Amino acid sequence: MRVLGIETSCDETGVAIYDVERGLLANRLHSQIALHQAYGGVVPELASRDHVAHLLPLVRAALDEARMDAGPIDAIAYTAGPGLIGALLVGASFARGLATAWAKPAIAVHHLEGHLLAPLLEVDPPAFPYLALLVSGGHTMLVDVMALGRYRVLGQSQDDAAGEAFDKTAKLLGLPYPGGAALAALAEQGESGAFRFPRPMLDRPGLDFSFSGLKTAVRVALRDRALTERTRADAARAFEDAVVETLAEKCRRALRETGRRRLIVAGGVGANRRLRERLVEVARDGGASAHFPRPAFCTDNGAMIAVAGALRLATGRASELRVRPTRAHWPLDAPEDEPA
Ligand code: KG4
Ligand code: ZN
Repeated sequence: MRVLGIETSCDETGVAIYDVERGLLANRLHSQIALHQAYGGVVPELASRDHVAHLLPLVRAALDEARMDAGPIDAIAYTAGPGLIGALLVGASFARGLATAWAKPAIAVHHLEGHLLAPLLEVDPPAFPYLALLVSGGHTMLVDVMALGRYRVLGQSQDDAAGEAFDKTAKLLGLPYPGGAALAALAEQGESGAFRFPRPMLDRPGLDFSFSGLKTAVRVALRDRALTERTRADAARAFEDAVVETLAEKCRRALRETGRRRLIVAGGVGANRRLRERLVEVARDGGASAHFPRPAFCTDNGAMIAVAGALRLATGRASELRVRPTRAHWPLDAPEDEPA
């Protein structure tokens, strides 16, 4: 069973082909980062237009990479939401058009389900059930992944997502958008402990997060200081330490409360090296194993949509018509929701 996956929810155009027996056969990505950088954030209209320009060449390139034509493709999976509505519309229209032309089914996939299943693309994939820390530009949540399509949100950010906090703090430090990876690189030069920022919500029980105060704490700490290279690096390090410690502690609690034996990280912030190192320790201390997608599969990509679509197709859970084609908002607890 082979599925072509299409991801266009934000600023990456991703196309991949996944085979249930043989694994990933092709993976193509076009990043729009350079396009949006001048604006300091994603411009939705430009994102939509750029997806239009790149989808067809990427599909051709993926088919070439897999050395096949449309014949052996069994279905086309596409991100139906959540995300930027225009960008989603481009991917959904393209995928459903392709499905009609090729006379194959189209499968609507929840973007976050894609992130949650990304570790299945790696060798030694985790078996269900597992605990997932999903940390991206738009979401920060702890999810109990019980089975395909059965997700229980245990806690989430009450305000900014972890990636959003990284990006906003990076901006304060004069780094270009999206600043997460650049801030992490700057933090490597900094000294731990030169600044100390709060660990939000660690003093309270529960598994929710809050990151907007942390960004403010960085702003206040830097207000009357000359922004030397040293100061910037030390602040980046202290910020990263605070986010990583907060995420790690909530994972520790969640492992204990759920008794899960496997911990995974997903989403763009999951590419962060320090976070990965800390989560390995947290898993080990909690008697669990840690499973990470490679960094390129933490950020948005077509492979995670292809694997989600393939698993849905293989288990008869690919009912396209029950899902609204594009949804800017879509609760993860209801990945097969009825259309409104
Ligand atoms: O999952 P993703 O590609 O897109 C969303 O669905 O949001 O996540 C993007 C986020 C951005 O906020 C970016 O700054 C952050 O992931 N990010 C990182 C790193 N690489 C990407 N944050 C911290 N450290 C990194 N190495
Ligand atoms: Zn994402």
